[in-house]
Amino acid sequence: MELTPFLQRELSEPLYSQLYYWIKKEIEEGRLLPGIKMPSVRQLSTHLKVSRNTVEAAYQQLQSEGYLESVPKSGIWVAEIEKPSMHPNEAEHPVMQECKPSREVLVDFEYGNVDLDKFPLKQWKKCLSDAVGQENNWLFEYSEKQGEFELRREISNYLLQSRGVRSTPEQILITAGTQTSMALICRILALQGNTVAMEEPGYSGVRSVFEDQGCQIEPVPLEKDGLSVEHIQLSRAKAVYVTPSHQFPFGMILSISKRMRLLKWAYQTGGYIIEDDYDGEFRYRGQPIPSLKSLDEEERVIYLGTFSKSFLPSLRLSYIVLPPSLMDHYSRTFAVYNQSVSPIIQRAMALFMKSGEFERHIRRMRKQYQRKHQALLRSIDQYMGTKVKIVGEKSGLHILLKLKGVSTLELSEKGLQKGVKVYSPMNFWLNPTPEGNSYIMLGFGGLSIEEIEKGVRLLASCLREVEIGE
Ligand SMILES: Cc1ncc(COP(=O)(O)O)c(C=O)c1O
Repeated sequence: MELTPFLQRELSEPLYSQLYYWIKKEIEEGRLLPGIKMPSVRQLSTHLKVSRNTVEAAYQQLQSEGYLESVPKSGIWVAEIEKPSMHPNEAEHPVMQECKPSREVLVDFEYGNVDLDKFPLKQWKKCLSDAVGQENNWLFEYSEKQGEFELRREISNYLLQSRGVRSTPEQILITAGTQTSMALICRILALQGNTVAMEEPGYSGVRSVFEDQGCQIEPVPLEKDGLSVEHIQLSRAKAVYVTPSHQFPFGMILSISKRMRLLKWAYQTGGYIIEDDYDGEFRYRGQPIPSLKSLDEEERVIYLGTFSKSFLPSLRLSYIVLPPSLMDHYSRTFAVYNQSVSPIIQRAMALFMKSGEFERHIRRMRKQYQRKHQALLRSIDQYMGTKVKIVGEKSGLHILLKLKGVSTLELSEKGLQKGVKVYSPMNFWLNPTPEGNSYIMLGFGGLSIEEIEKGVRLLASCLREVEIGE
């Protein structure tokens, strides 16, 4: 550890005293924590270019006051000091008590969590270790700007087999999450100051990027079978961002006829369609509908994928499939941009995919999520009956509940009192309407079946209490 006090020789205060006060303050203000080993007298005197006596005198003073502790044959350590019980100002103005839910949270329907039970941790750790162990120079280098070729090849194979998307590794750009992908796309398509259309309600994570990039957002109303294509046709949108496999957050699937009409709009106007296939792997009912990208004959679809739902959100690993002309443009314009995802993570993922583990994981997870999804729908039906309506129940890792006779806020507050946490989808609307306040969002990916059933039972008891006016 290096200490860097600013000692001033020209002051009348001796150097040992300056050093003493400086270390004392560092300890009192928590920058030097108990259990930290201090540099030896010799090391510190060499480092600060002061005599050993100066350091020794400061250390001795600190030891006698209990700030430092000397352990024979071990060294000098920062000691545990008792904090003064309350700062005088705090006594006058007590800090506001944090607003805690009145009960511990027993079931949290937070969206975005993934299943932990069946996560192949052992295999994933092996891939990480194998990636680092590979005898090659790449570990010591920045690596490929577009992303590791091996990973892009694996993604390209995977997309063809599982999503019907034809792509070459050269068309794939590795990114650190969907927002990074979107910020790049805004730059590649020069969307700043232009109109971009997105579903209303839609994914607020992407909306924020459009706002930050200076785009004009055109909210497109939703119909039973996805966003209104007429609305887009009448707009001045240069690009449209959609979640066709599983509309976020409502969950409907964009019908095949709308897909064809949307593509026609892009062909005729030269617009681009940005297809976010964030959880396309997890579909439980009905015929799979081909992705927009797989139907695109004129290179107007930009396809976004992420490993956040299919594998782990903490990887921060995603990708864009760009039409060749846009990839050309990207390579020229962004030639100096380095890749932001660690090559270690990319290599490990490439090994994981190559070994077949990723496909196995997806198959296992699809079954696992399907069981959870069924348990959720079954419990809602059993405990809540007609008091709520389920919205978007065919795929994905979340559903919405349309409430009757109770507001989102009322139910979430009551829920918290009973230890169940639910979420409002309100901020997914660009222009919030009162209707938005009649839904709750239930994410179930990270919950066990028992937790799901318990959570729904607790929520149902909240609804009953509201009904009888408790
Ligand atoms: C619509 C949508 N797209 C993408 C993502 C994933 O984002 P990321 O790749 O940044 O984890 C999410 C996650 O919540 C999402 O809801």
